[in-house]
Amino acid sequence: MPASLVVGTQWGDEGKGKIVDILAEKAHMVVRYQGGNNAGHTVVNDQEKYEMHLLPSGVLYPDTMAVMGQGMVIDPWALIEEMEGLKKRGVSIENLYISDSAHLVLPYHILLDKLEEKLRGTDKLGTTVKGIGPAYTDKAARRGIRMGDILHPQRLKRSLEIALRYHNQVLKKVFHESCVDLEELLAKLLDLGEILKPHICNTSLKIAQNWEAGRHIFFEGAHGTLLDIDNGSYPYVTSSSTVAGAVAGGAGFPPGNVDEIIGVVKAYTTRVGEGVFPTEEDSSTGDKLREAGGEYGVTTRRPRRCGWLDIPLLKHSLRINGADWLALTKMDVLSFMDEIQVATAYKLDGEIIQEMPTDMEKLERCEPVYEFLPGWKQDLQHIREYENLPSQAREYVKFLEEKTHLPVKLISVGPDRKQVILRGGIG
Ligand code: IMP
Repeated sequence: MPASLVVGTQWGDEGKGKIVDILAEKAHMVVRYQGGNNAGHTVVNDQEKYEMHLLPSGVLYPDTMAVMGQGMVIDPWALIEEMEGLKKRGVSIENLYISDSAHLVLPYHILLDKLEEKLRGTDKLGTTVKGIGPAYTDKAARRGIRMGDILHPQRLKRSLEIALRYHNQVLKKVFHESCVDLEELLAKLLDLGEILKPHICNTSLKIAQNWEAGRHIFFEGAHGTLLDIDNGSYPYVTSSSTVAGAVAGGAGFPPGNVDEIIGVVKAYTTRVGEGVFPTEEDSSTGDKLREAGGEYGVTTRRPRRCGWLDIPLLKHSLRINGADWLALTKMDVLSFMDEIQVATAYKLDGEIIQEMPTDMEKLERCEPVYEFLPGWKQDLQHIREYENLPSQAREYVKFLEEKTHLPVKLISVGPDRKQVILRGGIG
């Protein structure tokens, strides 16, 4: 049985949730391996809409195991709220497994996220203010609190003492804020531990056992490649490794055992927060794209910046991820356009370049070189067969395939699970 992985190829919000939801129907296990509740994905099925931030999309299937790997940072309050919300709607979360080695996002991380952004002033990153950066900072500084700790009162107290010895100094002396009360936080976390206890385990072992038993494992990447801490638009990135290879550490799964990597590409580009965006369309066309695509953050409700498909950026992303095929999303959103722009190269200091510079100062200076494709001006939402797409829409798909040298095997034409065109042996 294969192990498959879905990864975002742009700045997140490519519509991965829906793709995972469709493809994971046949999977036995869906695994998240990085990030936290800074992610947000929407799944629409049978007229019901689910917005999730922490739980893997596969949790909606009753027989699918949902795993939260050790590469994640988890706000336990947010997790319990999400679990309760699904339970109330009749979704079983009995098959949820949480790594004992995943790190916790605690209230002081959220506070620090806010204070650090304020300190940066006009140089702010535009984070989701969910405490993600400070939680990963603590992990790297080896003063983090892990899921497994909240099951052991003495161990948790000791870990909190070490963390607060540092954080209370920072809060008091740098930010002039009040200190965190250790006993109060300890008591709250132990209560949460009781609720989460049945789900906490060694998830890499669980994944390995299921993989060895021939079950289909599905890895669900969060965010997008340009938000990757090492390969993204630093410093305007998130604090985790968002690329396909992060599955090795974040889930404890050997990278060589991943059989297929699916790159999710939105038919245009968006980003939230600050930072470089070469094909941004800061105009009424961009505004129309935002409205047509409902481009408002699931996590923060912020309007997303909108622009055109960017081939040099995609080439960078697809190379790093080693994508085998593409899932093209939100194709229907472009239906209102007479003409569609795609950046196929950049102009940098008078020279045409085909590759995205990894030096962000250079990328800032890049001007996109556009090709113009005809729009199709027809609603696509009811179409289920590739051959039934208008010729201009097929042209757009072919153009993307030629530029990336990868097949587009799945095309999403609407928010519902069923609004999809499957090609090339999928489905
Ligand atoms: P953080 O992850 O909250 O630290 O935010 C860092 C940057 O990543 C900000 O620009 C966020 O808007 C962006 N970001 C984080 N998660 C997502 C996501 O799931 N989709 C889009 N942008 C995200």
